[in-house]
Amino acid sequence: MQHAPVFTSVLTLSVCLLFLSCATHAHNITHILAKHPEFSTFNHYLTITHLAGEINRRQTITVLAVSNAGMADLLSKHLSVFVIKNVLSLHVLVDYFGARKLHQITDGTASSATLFQSTGSAPGTAGFVNITDLKHGKVGFGAQDSGHLNSYFVKSVEEIPYNISVLEISQILTSAVAEAPAEAPSLNLTNMLTKQGCKAFGDLLEASGAIKTFEENVDGGLTVFCPSDDVIKGFMPKYKNLTAAGKVSLLLYHGIPIYQSMQMLKSSNGLTNTLATDGAKKYDFTVQTEGEDITLETKVVTARVTGTVLDQEPVVLYKVNKVLLPRELFKGTVEDDEAESPKASSPKSSKSKKADTADSPDADSPESDDSEDSTADQDDENGSGRFDGGRWASVLLTVFAGAFVLF
Ligand SMILES: *[C@@H]1O[C@H](CO)[C@@H](O)[C@H](O)[C@H]1NC(C)=O
Ligand SMILES: *[C@@H]1O[C@H](CO)[C@@H](O)[C@H](O)[C@H]1NC(C)=O
Ligand SMILES: *[C@@H]1O[C@H](CO)[C@@H](O)[C@H](O)[C@H]1NC(C)=O
Ligand SMILES: *[C@@H]1O[C@H](CO)[C@@H](O)[C@H](O)[C@H]1NC(C)=O
Ligand SMILES: *[C@@H]1O[C@H](CO)[C@@H](O)[C@H](O)[C@H]1NC(C)=O
Ligand SMILES: *[C@@H]1O[C@H](CO)[C@@H](O)[C@H](O)[C@H]1NC(C)=O
Repeated sequence: MQHAPVFTSVLTLSVCLLFLSCATHAHNITHILAKHPEFSTFNHYLTITHLAGEINRRQTITVLAVSNAGMADLLSKHLSVFVIKNVLSLHVLVDYFGARKLHQITDGTASSATLFQSTGSAPGTAGFVNITDLKHGKVGFGAQDSGHLNSYFVKSVEEIPYNISVLEISQILTSAVAEAPAEAPSLNLTNMLTKQGCKAFGDLLEASGAIKTFEENVDGGLTVFCPSDDVIKGFMPKYKNLTAAGKVSLLLYHGIPIYQSMQMLKSSNGLTNTLATDGAKKYDFTVQTEGEDITLETKVVTARVTGTVLDQEPVVLYKVNKVLLPRELFKGTVEDDEAESPKASSPKSSKSKKADTADSPDADSPESDDSEDSTADQDDENGSGRFDGGRWASVLLTVFAGAFVLF
């Protein structure tokens, strides 16, 4: 019997994948603190402010945790969540301080930069924390801008040298700067895209109004795949052919309504919904990872993620080498010839690729396919010129059936 070993190897594979996904996250602050219920409030706020993700991505970091009682003092000030984020980011030192190191500080005093400092919203020394080894074994902590040490080392919660150290301190560090009223961070996507070489894409988002949907999703998490300016330029003739609604759908197709770091993207192989997904209108694509390569396959085109433009949880922007063409708007299965980056992988001619994928008996269908990925009709009732969905369904079924046989 072939089945047993195949099944076993699939099992092994899944187990490895499981371990892989554990191993790729060197530490998980949410998980560490969950073992200590006295920090549940602090832990909760690390999550909703998205600081947890930032902490997990970094190495050589120290988290100054405050118990639920200490957090109650902070919450009684009724600060907005954006201000709380600033205050808590002052409690994440971008250096490793284990309990022992606290007592071995040169000259007994040190100043450590924090995540608050790295946000750039802390002027002067406001983003630094003063750590001073006081007499009688006490170690004091204070926001550098406050000029005094208002909190003390209590105990070591967990230390994973030299990746992350979690220390309990007696109370929240007071800092007038961190507690100053803060607006919701102005995550102006258009500005972000403009600065990051995705101006053409950003301009289309603005002009079409699709930007609104992107912006509405920022708080809850947003992943954007931005085709570079050159790629957009080459695509414009086809873009102009779309109806207004089609343009919006195409643009929304380049966003996923969750934050997906590179690591998460790599482990999320499979179908993913997009901002354009709306009930029966699937507008989905498949994420494929091979080694370090991540591709997005839409049935019409396969685009490659060529880099991270910006990763600022809850928003991440990636650059892709092609416009993602949803099958809901475009027909054909060909590698699109539009402005590909020169080193694009498959120089296969569109015809041969089409032959590979769809060698079904369609000799009778008129050769209307000349404009491979010309705009397909956007309304279901407008059927003329629509490509043969039935044929595709069967090809798809075959592919899926094949996959099942493999497994
Ligand atoms: C520290 O982080 C690195 C990189 O993520 C990881 O390889 C290593 O296993 C971690 N060390 C410990 C003790 O967890
Ligand atoms: C971290 O741990 C929490 C709680 O155990 C879990 O819900 C979350 O998915 C983990 N995050 C990552 C990135 O693994
Ligand atoms: C930390 O604060 C103490 C007390 O205010 C001060 O004496 C010390 O110089 C400060 N240390 C640093 C590194 O700024
Ligand atoms: C983003 O910035 C652009 C250019 O500065 C501006 O035109 C646009 O109105 C801004 N959008 C929002 C939502 O503030
Ligand atoms: C635009 O649509 C027209 C009519 O459907 C078609 O003939 C033309 O080739 C299309 N142009 C592009 C660039 O797709
Ligand atoms: C199909 O729909 C498109 C866009 O909605 C429209 O431009 C075109 O004229 C329609 N064609 C037919 C035959 O109705």
